[in-house]
Amino acid sequence: MNELILVTGGAGFIGSHTVDALLGRGFRVRVLDALVAPVHDGERPGYLPAEVEFICGSVTDRSELREALEGVDAVFHFAAYQDYLTDFSHFFLTNSAGTALLYELIVNERLPVRKVVVASSQAIYGEGRYRCQDHDIQYPDQRPPANLELGEWAVLCSQCAAPMEALQTDEHVVAPHNSYALSKRDQEDIAIKLGHRYGVPSVALRYSIVQGPRQSFRNAYSGALRSFAVRVLTGQPPVIYEDGEQLRDYVSIHDVIEANLLVLGDSRADYQVFNVGGDRQVNVRRLAHLVSEAAGGDFEPEISRLYRVGDSRHIFSDVSKLRALGWAPRVSQREMVREYLAWAAEQPGLEDSFAQARAVMEAAGVLRTASAGTR
Ligand SMILES: NC(=O)c1ccc[n+]([C@@H]2O[C@H](COP(=O)([O-])OP(=O)(O)OC[C@H]3O[C@@H](n4cnc5c(N)ncnc54)[C@H](O)[C@@H]3O)[C@@H](O)[C@H]2O)c1
Repeated sequence: MNELILVTGGAGFIGSHTVDALLGRGFRVRVLDALVAPVHDGERPGYLPAEVEFICGSVTDRSELREALEGVDAVFHFAAYQDYLTDFSHFFLTNSAGTALLYELIVNERLPVRKVVVASSQAIYGEGRYRCQDHDIQYPDQRPPANLELGEWAVLCSQCAAPMEALQTDEHVVAPHNSYALSKRDQEDIAIKLGHRYGVPSVALRYSIVQGPRQSFRNAYSGALRSFAVRVLTGQPPVIYEDGEQLRDYVSIHDVIEANLLVLGDSRADYQVFNVGGDRQVNVRRLAHLVSEAAGGDFEPEISRLYRVGDSRHIFSDVSKLRALGWAPRVSQREMVREYLAWAAEQPGLEDSFAQARAVMEAAGVLRTASAGTR
């Protein structure tokens, strides 16, 4: 009998692509997903293949999670709460306590799970890794609110206050500074440390911003590509936060799936964390141009002076650790953008959600407008 894999959050973006890949490799798949709004409307999504066993339930519910774990050989744990809002406890209940419950059940009931892969995030690096010309490598703290309010975006040296150069961030130092990232660090610690202690082989993958079809328009956390795509497809220019010079290493869902399958089958990955990123940097302004180009339009992005509290200035991951196991990102930024735009343009009910998302985030004090700075 082929192995049975449980995918929590398997009705979501990364989860559902992982489900497809697992079925394609001959695994049997069970999904546990609470079909949470706003990503879902309470219905099993049409893209989940009929042969998937679907349990509508929460990773925070003991009996639902226990039922989902019955007879399972391995787990992909994707279910999570992701947002920028200030309902702090929600992050820890779903992401931290949900993961603790998963390990509690596996350990206490001696379930024969051979591997757990948890979805961590680049967000746990906070501002990441920098170099000051005179004071060497630093892992800076959050940018001071007063600087952001003045539209001064640069990350400054803690000793001489000179602007620093952003570097690729490897796996060694984490510095989470928002509630999502703090809960993701908990999730990793639970998986790697308790997994190790109790002999449950576990891997944490720190994804950079993942892009691809099925990424919900309604997931405010899903990054700039979604926001820019919705704008240009409704005939409006992309709106850029800060000055558009922020560097990111967007990674394609197809490359992420290869990473997921690799660590599922490779015991060298056990009890380790790995970055999974695009391995090339692109600034947000360039991403907006690629989106405009893919949509066949000529939209000059709006530089708005808007900024999001808790955003990292530059963040891009060093993926050499996962490369050493034979993985490499293959999809170019342009292909990634084209694929997403082609999918987005086909979706029913596409409407500009920017104004509504802006109102919610401004009311929560998460999205603010600088009093000065680049326009
Ligand atoms: N998409 C990215 O760029 C990215 C980057 C870094 C990390 N991640 C992580 O990858 C994972 C998947 O992200 P995604 O982009 O596919 O998100 P998504 O919102 O598309 O999918 C998450 C799924 O989890 C389900 N879910 C939420 N709470 C649940 C609960 N309590 N019980 C059961 N199901 C629940 C949702 O209904 C949804 O189907 C998450 O853990 C996320 O933190 C994503």
